[in-house]
Amino acid sequence: MSVEIIKAEHLTKYYGNFLAVNDISFSVNKGEIFGFLGPNGAGKTTTIRMLTGILNPSSGRIEVFGMDMKKHKIEIRERTGIVPEMANPYIDLSAMRNLRLMGRLYGMKGREIEKRSVELLKLFNLYEKKDTKVRGFSKGMKQRLSLAMAMLPDPELLFLDEPTSGLDVMSARLIKRIIREEQKKGKTIFMNTHNMQDANELCNRVAIINHGKLIAIDTPEKIKEIGAKSNVIEFSLSPFKFEGGIVEGRVEILGDKVKVYTAEVDETIKKIVNYAERENLKIVSLNVEKPSLEDVFMALVGEKNE
Ligand SMILES: Nc1ncnc2c1ncn2[C@@H]1O[C@H](COP(=O)(O)OP(=O)(O)OP(=O)(O)O)[C@@H](O)[C@H]1O
Ligand SMILES: [Mg+2]
Repeated sequence: MSVEIIKAEHLTKYYGNFLAVNDISFSVNKGEIFGFLGPNGAGKTTTIRMLTGILNPSSGRIEVFGMDMKKHKIEIRERTGIVPEMANPYIDLSAMRNLRLMGRLYGMKGREIEKRSVELLKLFNLYEKKDTKVRGFSKGMKQRLSLAMAMLPDPELLFLDEPTSGLDVMSARLIKRIIREEQKKGKTIFMNTHNMQDANELCNRVAIINHGKLIAIDTPEKIKEIGAKSNVIEFSLSPFKFEGGIVEGRVEILGDKVKVYTAEVDETIKKIVNYAERENLKIVSLNVEKPSLEDVFMALVGEKNE
């Protein structure tokens, strides 16, 4: 049976009059990598800050490890690791000193801090830089150190706010590998991302948030299925002529181009080709675009409004 590690009920956040998070409810199970996916300004950071007790919700309820956030903030924080949106190491301290400081904040013993820090520095490819001030670190190095700091007390739950955003392929890969390894050890991971690829590769389940509202919670496969419906076939015929009725899906005519939004790529292309042959038209161009994150949002929001 699955154990709920995080439970959010009717979570809502206003900044003044602005509704940033709009009545969202969901739960995250033990051992899950749960992705919170949404565009800029969707409310991801606001949500993670409420779930980690940094920000108080305007209304709604949060339970972590079965404890009410309002009453047990400290106990929850002690068992949780957080990597914020902006890497948080002190730039005037070395990597090692940042880790020591974090260890002391968590009340770890000196020997334990040293052992675990060395382990993590090696894991994150930072051991050679352990005595270098963070000021001279690249974004990727800072991000890796940030994650090492969050993992220092070996927390059972990790919150990561866009852990691979703006990183090069190597750093992003390393971080993704470590996230997977943490999951294998039974840890639960909640991560914000606007990267469909990351969500697809890493997450067991994904919640899509847009304008503060949850519009879907499902496995990446199911989310992709929704996205597949918004495949875009763009083509141009010469001389220009097209009868929208011959294909299934939404048809848009833009200048001399036709766009068809459809799940049936193969069937639709065949119909277009047949039509062109029949009418003696030349196919000037024909492209199939994979649905972008935006397309998935459109498909989801569109479906909801129908
Ligand atoms: N302290 C604040 N005061 C007022 N408005 C805020 C504050 N923090 C965030 N907002 C607004 O709330 C909305 C949600 O912001 P949030 O940072 O949660 O989005 P996000 O999904 O994390 O975006 P990004 O992908 O850019 O990090 C945005 O419109 C933002 O401008
Ligand atoms: Mg954010």
